[in-house]
Amino acid sequence: MKAEPGMSLQEIAAEVPGAIRVLESYGLDYCQSDRHPLITICAERGLGIESLLMQIGTAELTADQIRAYEGWSDKSLSDLISIIRIRHHSFTWRQLAHMAELFEEAAATKSRYRHDWKRVQRAFNAFRLKLEQHMNFEEQVVFPYIEAIEAAARGGGPYPTAFFPTIQRPVRMMLLDHEAADELLRRLREALANSSLERSRSRSLREFSAVMEPLKNDLSTHIFLETYVLFPRAVNLESLTLEPLRLARED
Ligand SMILES: [Fe+2]
Ligand SMILES: [Fe+2]
Repeated sequence: MKAEPGMSLQEIAAEVPGAIRVLESYGLDYCQSDRHPLITICAERGLGIESLLMQIGTAELTADQIRAYEGWSDKSLSDLISIIRIRHHSFTWRQLAHMAELFEEAAATKSRYRHDWKRVQRAFNAFRLKLEQHMNFEEQVVFPYIEAIEAAARGGGPYPTAFFPTIQRPVRMMLLDHEAADELLRRLREALANSSLERSRSRSLREFSAVMEPLKNDLSTHIFLETYVLFPRAVNLESLTLEPLRLARED
């Protein structure tokens, strides 16, 4: 579970690994019964909620995630999007397609494990559908809009129009998708663990396991970078830079 602005300190301390150390460094008492949300506490104390959430998010990072995160704060949003597209989205599209082929092959065999493969395949299909729809929406709607607000903020592009009034709405949807994808991946791994496929010693299973681990690791870095770096910066840019531009234009 990840920390959210609407969660209380107690909830964050209890639910998010690594959060306690960060809360303590800010002098925030997570033992008190105060149920106010983090966003209110930050506003009252003049603390930057984005930086706090980012620190909580990085508290339990793997070495790969820290490497991927390094240097991100200096990059433009367009550069960050290019990195996400090239490094994470392309990889994910390829891995999902490869896994789908493995399932097709395995489920088509006459082996006694065919039904196990079909059961795990159903969990995989749900995970793949969610992730592919999500990446499509990011690539076709969210990323181009973020690139457009950055261009407009620099004075180098027209004021962007979209079917949503503010980037906050699709970002909220994307964050919910991230949680859903996480949960569907957990169910896929559970379906695999509960199957008797480990006994099959098949080539498909070995290949599937070899693809699954890198995909899982890459996905956690990918989701982290969007949730804690790209999207908060885009929301900030829109509210701080673009809103005054829009109001000035309407005057
Ligand atoms: Fe993404
Ligand atoms: Fe995403």
